[in-house]
Amino acid sequence: MKERRFETEAVHVGYDSKDHLGSLSTPIYQTSTFTFDSAEQGERRFAGEEEGYIYSRLGNPTVTALQERIARLENGEAGLAFATGMAAVSATLIKLTKANEHILCSQGLYGCTFGLLSILDEKYNIKSDYISMETEDQIREHILPETSVIYVETPINPTMKVIDLEMVARVAKEYEIPVVVDNTFSSPYLQRPIDLGCDIVIHSATKYIGGHGDVVAGLVVGKEDFISDMAMTTQKDIGGQMSPFDAWLLLRGIKTLSLRMERHSQTAETIVDA
Ligand SMILES: Cc1ncc(COP(=O)(O)O)c(C=O)c1O
Repeated sequence: MKERRFETEAVHVGYDSKDHLGSLSTPIYQTSTFTFDSAEQGERRFAGEEEGYIYSRLGNPTVTALQERIARLENGEAGLAFATGMAAVSATLIKLTKANEHILCSQGLYGCTFGLLSILDEKYNIKSDYISMETEDQIREHILPETSVIYVETPINPTMKVIDLEMVARVAKEYEIPVVVDNTFSSPYLQRPIDLGCDIVIHSATKYIGGHGDVVAGLVVGKEDFISDMAMTTQKDIGGQMSPFDAWLLLRGIKTLSLRMERHSQTAETIVDA
């Protein structure tokens, strides 16, 4: 297949109007439950022997379209959508850590991520260290035998400090530790952490992905195995799924991501030059 531009993918990936009575806009599948042709079919779906929707906490077509789109834009294998950015962060960190392990973080994180890390410490003795991540040696010095995740926010909210993701990923690979990047403030239009060697990308889609100030949402992108495992564990059992209407708002917002990020960048340059 011919390679398509970011702008084109942002409009089309994950949706084919031919499968939806020609509807140009992705339909909002506002349903909790899906019906089956027979009890046997229901049994096969619950057993995972047949593909198909069952219940919207386990999957919903409007949400699936968004998951496929963000995965392509981030150049990852699969995506998973959450009701909030913090639901995305917490499901990911709970999936990747066990009691008594350690998370190495960038210094300066969104306040509620810091709050979540404090809860993980208090309840499960999962300790975190916060470092500037300016050199390879500094990162190596802070990796412990029990470090199970390197968690980086760049640019950091609210300091806007930037971290060299390629460098962090290079060191993490030596120790086989996954690198999770909160890419909220760049969006995939300006930065693709997976292309830089990182493993998992998180968004508070509330910000640039949504772009209209009308939805609170979160997204995670990573390898197919990791995402499907998370969908059937820390998402299925803890909850925090995205609603079909929120997915629709994001599918609409994401279409103009490239235009908005260009304008944001121009405006930022004007302010810096003033
Ligand atoms: C960088 C970053 N990550 C995560 C979050 C949490 O996202 P949400 O507010 O969508 O739960 C925010 C929210 O401001 C954020 O700025």
